[in-house]
Amino acid sequence: MRVLVSGGAGYIGSHTVVQLVAAGHEVVVVDSFANAKPSVVGRLEALTGRPLDVRSFDLTDVDKTEHLFAHEPFDAVIHFAGFKAVGESVEKPLEYYENNLGSTFSLVRAMRRHGVAKLVFSSSATVYGAQAPVPMREDLPTSATNPYGWTKVMQEQVLRDVAASDPTWRIALLRYFNPVGAHASGTIGEDPSDIPNNLMPYLAQVAVGRLEKLLVYGDDYDTVDGTGVRDYIHVEDLAAGHIAALHQLGDTRAPVSTWNLGTGTGTSVLQLLAAFERACGHTLPYEVVARRAGDIAASYADPTRAEAELGWRATRTVDDMCADSWRWQSQNPRGYPEG
Ligand code: UD1
Repeated sequence: MRVLVSGGAGYIGSHTVVQLVAAGHEVVVVDSFANAKPSVVGRLEALTGRPLDVRSFDLTDVDKTEHLFAHEPFDAVIHFAGFKAVGESVEKPLEYYENNLGSTFSLVRAMRRHGVAKLVFSSSATVYGAQAPVPMREDLPTSATNPYGWTKVMQEQVLRDVAASDPTWRIALLRYFNPVGAHASGTIGEDPSDIPNNLMPYLAQVAVGRLEKLLVYGDDYDTVDGTGVRDYIHVEDLAAGHIAALHQLGDTRAPVSTWNLGTGTGTSVLQLLAAFERACGHTLPYEVVARRAGDIAASYADPTRAEAELGWRATRTVDDMCADSWRWQSQNPRGYPEG
């Protein structure tokens, strides 16, 4: 298939691009580079052994998006592009709604006009909101606790309505749990532009000496050791889930499908810390502080629907995830080079 990958220079997008090329697909990346460094492109070309076709523009630009679809055929789109920082979304709600919803409107309108009906969309377990029982199943009601989360809830709704209006659409809503890890080569990985918000990149930066110590946000939750429990999933397993969804979209009878991409296993903050210490070979300083506003005690997937319908399941362990995150961070202590 000829596949357009929006946000293909980003963390999850880049790992998916490598697997798409390996699976024999022709890939075109569109990325604004608002939150990715251009040097990732050379790394991807080295990994895939071929030139990567990259278009550098923002999908909220309706004219450029229309121009792309008017001049080139695509069989499918995988739509990763979007702002994703929870705290920033509280500070800049309008920017989050405009960017995340605007890019999806622009993309879906161009797809409809030019007869491209297959779409794989990056959703998030954040759409289960603050009160969901674990393990989380796809049929739970959706809600959110911050503007970033609402953009995911709203984009899902827009896509469900679009699919309902025209049964030729084939749309996959993929709800990611907590993506971590990196490509086994250590040449591509997660490269936060600022101090990381998320646990794994924070741990990696403590381990490499860029940050002094981990702050553990609360140890009084009703969990195995009092710290927050999450379903960490290796980005390579997550990327494989996209390929499985893309292939399934041809056969699926429903215009829209929703699949959790998680392992089904919860890991606490202190358990992940211990696993990272095993990976990097030394202890990591930490301090328990107050809970972070908006955090929930436990989040993990019921992954059975994806297993049954996609024939996909995550295979990599938490130790694999930490080993690969550490390889990436230790080989690239400052992330991707500029330029
Ligand atoms: C967060 C977002 C979620 C988003 C996801 C994207 C919040 C409240 N939620 O998920 O909406 O979809 O990132 O990846 O921001 N922790 C620490 N110290 C740290 C960082 C995290 O103790 O420095 C703890 C947290 O309290 C939590 C766990 O580690 O228990 C995982 O946190 P994080 O990696 O930020 O992911 P989520 O909060 O699950």
